Amino acid sequence: MARLRRVGSVAVPGLRTSANHLRPPAAIAVLGGGNMGSGIAQACAQAGFHLRVRDVDAPALARGRALIEKMLAGAVERRKLTPARRDEVLARIEFTTDLTEAVRGTALVIEAVFEDEAVKRDLFRELAPLVGPETLVATNTSSLSVTGLAEGFPNPGRFAGLHFFFPAAINKLVEIVGGARTDPSTLSELERFSYLVRKIPITTADRAGFCVNRYFVPYLNEAARLAEESAASLATIEEVGRELFGATLGPFELMNVTGIPIAFHAETSLYRAFGPAYAPAPRLEEQFRSGKPWPWKETEVEPEKKPVVRARFLGLTFGIATRLVEEGVATAEATDRGAVVGLRRKWGPFAQLSGLGLGEGLGLVEAYARNWPGNFPVAQTLRDRAARGERTWPLSLVRVERSGPVAWVLLDRPEVLNALNSELLRQIDATFRDLETDPGLRAVILAGSSPVFAAGADIEEMSRKSLPEGIEFGFLGQRAADRIERFPAPVIALVEGYALGGGLELALAADFVVAAEGAQLGLPEVTLGIHPGMGGATRLTRLIGRARTKMLVYTGARVSAEEAFRLGVVARVLPADSARDDVAAIAGAIAANAPLAVRWVKQVIDRGLDASTASALHLEAASAGHTFGTDDRSEGMKAFLERRKPDFRGK
Ligand code: HXC
Repeated sequence: MARLRRVGSVAVPGLRTSANHLRPPAAIAVLGGGNMGSGIAQACAQAGFHLRVRDVDAPALARGRALIEKMLAGAVERRKLTPARRDEVLARIEFTTDLTEAVRGTALVIEAVFEDEAVKRDLFRELAPLVGPETLVATNTSSLSVTGLAEGFPNPGRFAGLHFFFPAAINKLVEIVGGARTDPSTLSELERFSYLVRKIPITTADRAGFCVNRYFVPYLNEAARLAEESAASLATIEEVGRELFGATLGPFELMNVTGIPIAFHAETSLYRAFGPAYAPAPRLEEQFRSGKPWPWKETEVEPEKKPVVRARFLGLTFGIATRLVEEGVATAEATDRGAVVGLRRKWGPFAQLSGLGLGEGLGLVEAYARNWPGNFPVAQTLRDRAARGERTWPLSLVRVERSGPVAWVLLDRPEVLNALNSELLRQIDATFRDLETDPGLRAVILAGSSPVFAAGADIEEMSRKSLPEGIEFGFLGQRAADRIERFPAPVIALVEGYALGGGLELALAADFVVAAEGAQLGLPEVTLGIHPGMGGATRLTRLIGRARTKMLVYTGARVSAEEAFRLGVVARVLPADSARDDVAAIAGAIAANAPLAVRWVKQVIDRGLDASTASALHLEAASAGHTFGTDDRSEGMKAFLERRKPDFRGK
């Protein structure tokens, strides 16, 4: 995941590039106006992009337009969209049968035609001479090789997979798939683009099924196998699927809604790639050929048969998920995110595996694998972890990307806007604790992995807390905030998107906060019946004074980055497009200065705030005096006199 670009001496996580032209109102072409294409076009148009949907003839385009209109009408009915907004979105979508017209001047072309390799290849051949070298080209394939489709494309570095999930206008998951020749910058541009169109991206390697379908489609197939073996009634299998994964639909109803043929074709392509363990169940094929939905409602639930079904579903899911990680297809975090965001499951495979314990999980995988000798390899990492007695599979909610003397600490729960649950707070604390002893570190940037800082403490988790747990939670948050505040080197909080409630409280523990244009900051705790508890009320009062703090806390209002700057909450407002580059430059400037002097003056400022003026002044003079004993002082002054750049060693 370490995709860093270099700005001066400090690299920037791949998310944002100031030169990027893929932002609203840029033009995007979507090739294919079917179910997926129309949904993709709608999502992009809602984010402010200009869309050209291209299909082969007028009736196909009319169907695409009707699909979009129907989805938008539904959103208006549910009051998610005003009629004026709906009209605005529709006005941003053009429909054409002319490919040249469709792709002219576009920043991105998304292919979403029928899932047939020959059809797609023909289209790419036709497309190749029409797009410029800057245009990104993405395929929405769910089962074909991205590397294969990129073959013969003149600019394979700008070609990648962008796999939206059904229904594409609503489902927030998108898989970003790099082919063998895709440039890393293409992947980071697509990652940034995904957030712009309000999607949650996960990055996967170019293997059949990518990440999510690799374990999801076989689960549907397994349901058919269980039915075929008469292991349990359809209703039993359906109910276990729902309960086990905390999903609204079980496997049969899901297939009924999304299409049994799709499940059959997807399983067939997995079978081609991975062999007999993935062979489509004859019962699945039979149902597909019958053209009828699964008749699960016509059967009764048999509770005594549930354990067998459960064991098979879990053995299969854990087995494939752990292999995905072992093969380097996706991280455990991405695998779980895919399940929660894309499949709307309550938990992902790894969270579920940890809940059960790795030993028990391994037992289920081995039992499942015995049905497919030699064709369902058990992940060695799972065996090793279980053998070491590890109970849980570690999942990182914080990512650290180190660039020379600067570390980016990135909060990484984008699916819930980095809502701070207990685990995330513990990991923030642990991350900063580990970095404390990192000898070469001169500055830290605290930000979101997505362009969002944090939308507060996790309300879902908080809603289940008792009084003692609530008290414990406040102190847990304070521990993380204290760790940031007392961090020996400077910490800059970069706020993009939202810094609300506990999110802002955490940011306020940094040495200073910078915010990107468009960011919203606030302490809305009282709107939920609680009040700030992670140190926000206290720190904000010291920062901007009693009256301004009270105004913000009592009203719970969200203020813009500019307003937060005027109030003194934020030290600087940065343009949204270059915020990451700009904050890297600030951190780089800090890192270039004498490290001991910077660390000591941090103490002088912070300790001085709690002391009397006389003590603070004394501390300042004494501390400054001590800098005269450092090698850095000799070097700094010598370099000035010799008209060269100093080379500080932090001694
Ligand atoms: C849990 C959260 C969340 C939060 C967002 N989500 N904020 N989950 N806790 N604080 C989840 C949503 O449920 C949703 O999940 C997904 O993130 C995307 O959010 P949306 O609401 O769909 O996005 P949007 O419409 O853009 O609205 C963004 C928002 C809104 C304005 C930030 O999400 C919001 O108001 N969030 C709550 C902000 C808040 O009140 N924070 C203060 C918490 S109190 P799904 O699954 O639906 O996609 C606090 C106390 C600290 O921090 C001190 C305690 C001691």
